[in-house]
Amino acid sequence: MRWCSSHLLALFILSMQSLSSSAWSKELFSPDNREIVSEGKALYQEQCASCHGKNLEGEPNWRRPNADMTMPAPPHNDTGHTWHHTDEVLFNLTKFGLAKYLNQPDYKSNMPAYEGVLTDDEIKAVLSFIKSSWSTTMREHQDHLNSQ
Ligand code: HEC
Repeated sequence: MRWCSSHLLALFILSMQSLSSSAWSKELFSPDNREIVSEGKALYQEQCASCHGKNLEGEPNWRRPNADMTMPAPPHNDTGHTWHHTDEVLFNLTKFGLAKYLNQPDYKSNMPAYEGVLTDDEIKAVLSFIKSSWSTTMREHQDHLNSQ
């Protein structure tokens, strides 16, 4: 039974992935484009640095929940887990916020949704800047996720 439900879940996830891959190109970011990365860097300092840190270092003790049980902002550098996610996931998280992305309207998070604040291209630029900061190993890992 246990095997069966996890198997079904895996099938569900796979079918969602193939659905989404037809709607999205897999590589959304341009970490090697200097112009886009420098635009993204400026936007990052303006919009994201107050929580995720000037140097992408995240909030102190970011793994421990706050008193109100929300989570602190994680780092966006190699020490965080941003590079564990595909371009598509990162884009959607930033555009729609966590509650909408997770489809859990009651999920309380301090991460804002940037829909209507930043354009799609601006969101991609910020995330291109973040990706450009990762070491080769993390970038290759994340490229591999995008290609699956
Ligand atoms: C007001 C604080 C705040 C600002 C400003 C902010 N974030 Fe966040 N962000 C958070 C918090 C808190 C989390 C963790 C959310 C949670 O677990 O509930 C988070 C999580 C994320 C995640 C998921 C990371 C992961 O590894 O799971 C991404 C991606 C992200 N933020 C991108 C951005 C970007 C890009 C900007 C700027 C355009 C930004 N954030 C601005 C607070 C903020």
